[in-house]
This record gives sequence, C-alpha cells and structure tokens, in this order.
Amino acid sequence: MMRRIDRRAFVKTVAGATALASAHVRATSADTRPVFLPTWPHGKLANERAADVILSGGSLLDAVEKGINVPENDPAVMSVGYGGLPNAEGVVELDAAIMDGTRHRAGAVCSLHNIRNAISVARQVLERTKHTTLAGEGAFRFALQTGFEPEQLLTAESLKRWQEWKANPKQESYWLKPEGGHDTIGMVATDGKGHVVSGCSTSGLEWKIPGRVGDSPLVGCGVYADDNVGAASATGNGDVMTNYCTSAFIVHNMARGAAPQDACVELIEHIAKTDPKNKEELICVIAMDTSGRVGAATMNKRNKFQFALWRNGESHLLNSVAVH
Ligand code: GLY
Repeated sequence: MMRRIDRRAFVKTVAGATALASAHVRATSADTRPVFLPTWPHGKLANERAADVILSGGSLLDAVEKGINVPENDPAVMSVGYGGLPNAEGVVELDAAIMDGTRHRAGAVCSLHNIRNAISVARQVLERTKHTTLAGEGAFRFALQTGFEPEQLLTAESLKRWQEWKANPKQESYWLKPEGGHDTIGMVATDGKGHVVSGCSTSGLEWKIPGRVGDSPLVGCGVYADDNVGAASATGNGDVMTNYCTSAFIVHNMARGAAPQDACVELIEHIAKTDPKNKEELICVIAMDTSGRVGAATMNKRNKFQFALWRNGESHLLNSVAVH
C-alpha cells in the first residue's frame, strides 16, 4: 500500500520547498497554454525547440520529441544521444521512450546503437507498430527500416574518456559497485488543453555492462502519462529507480489527489524508507498535472537537481527541493 506523508513533516523536512511556490512554477487559472518541464540545464534549449514546434502548429508529441532531439544532437551533453558515453565495450547504447497520455500508449527503444535520435525511433514504435518496446538489434533494424541513418555515435571526446577508463587499473565497473553520474533528459508537457506527454532519452550509465537497460525506456519508470491525471519522468540511478516504477507511482498518487510536488516527494520518501541506503543515491523526478501544476524533487542535497520550466513564453532554470 502506498504511504501518505504527513504534510507538516513534509514542509519541515523539505529544504527549499518554497522554491516551487514561486510565480514561475504555479499554474494559474489562465493557464490554457502549453507548459514544458524537462530535467537539467540542457532542458532549457529543449524547451525552446519544443515551444517553437507547438506554437507553429505541431502536436504535443511532436514538441516533446523535437525538444528531446536537442540534447540528443548536442555532443557536449555526454549522457544522451550523439556523444553519449559508451558501455564497457566502447559502444554507445541508447534508451528512450515517449508516452501519449491520450492513448495511454508508449513507444520505447532499449540498447539502440548507431542511431542518435532514440526518442524519434521510440516515436516510430508508437506510431507505426502494435508493439511498445523494441530492443538491441531489432530496434536498430527497425530504425533503418523507418528511414533513420546509421552513424558512429562516439565523438573524439567520448572515445578518449572511454579509453582513459579502460586503461585505468583501478577502473570502477558495474560488476563491482555502481558509480557515476547520469543526466538523462526527461520531459513532461501539457498543451494547456488537458493533454499530457512524457518523454525520456539517455545513453544510460557510462561503462555499463553491455545490454544493461535503465529506467528511461520502461513505461511506468522513465515515462508515464495519462490525460486523466498528468505525467511524470525521472533521471538518476535507473538501476534503483526501476524497482519503484517511479513515474507510475507519482501519477497514481496524483490520481488519488496529491499535488505534483507532493507526489514527487512521496515517491522519494518511499524509496528512502524501503532501503535507507537509497538516501545516498542520485534520484530525481519531475511531474505535471493536466492543469499545468508541476513538481520536482531530488533525494538529497548532495545531488542537486535543476529543471527547466517553460510557461507563458518564459523559460526558467530552477532548483528542485531536496528531500534528505
Ligand atoms: N536514468 C538513466 C539510467 O539509469 O540509465
């Protein structure tokens, strides 16, 4: 059974809770316009593209897909798409999913190689097949069949980093103890008319064991969207978060009446309570309801989490609350 948190304890324990009460973040009754909420500073450019797409007549799914393409195409973002850090064998393997809250359906790809825009391949899975998830070679062949061009996703910089890791006699590997940073792009959005979409794209953990799939492409984990309630996404240690169905947990709590911000904190409290070691983990979530109210939270103060919010033509980079 899901635990409800004590609201007074929530206010006492959540550092910076007031950040989310600011004017940028609040939905107003006039909010019948689109709202975009992606993870991390690279979400700001994703917002600009997403806003351009929807304001020029594209759908919300188009906007989220094209917005996420921005960090996928940016080699400086080394956790997503082209230039993402590779697995232990030096191969870039991408995970992505996009979920449509109207159809309550997602498209997803896991362990996709040599195609930079994993979110767009996921969109093709959603639009052109009866499947939800394609993996590995099958996902790659599907991408070729649907018109994507194969390419080398390693850049000079990501190859150098992999070679340094490989040559390090004290190299950390996932056979021993997980470590490393993750800054997946997750984006939740509404068109201002009650429709929501959730999208997520990542190259996953650097130096991961080949074939490892994180939370990002899994429905209910990296993405969840339901036009009756809202949408959620996540970034951080997918090996932990997958076990908590983070995005579905948040949206289901919102369905029971929790505000997006409270639903994010409840999920994080739940993860910390079931295993206190998780308090040290990088676990960050974002959520939005169908009226454009938003929430965001990170597990701890050590792992600061910033999200970008686009509302009413303005884009702001904001700090999330830290629960522990
Ligand atoms: N959250 C991204 C990953 O763990 O792959």
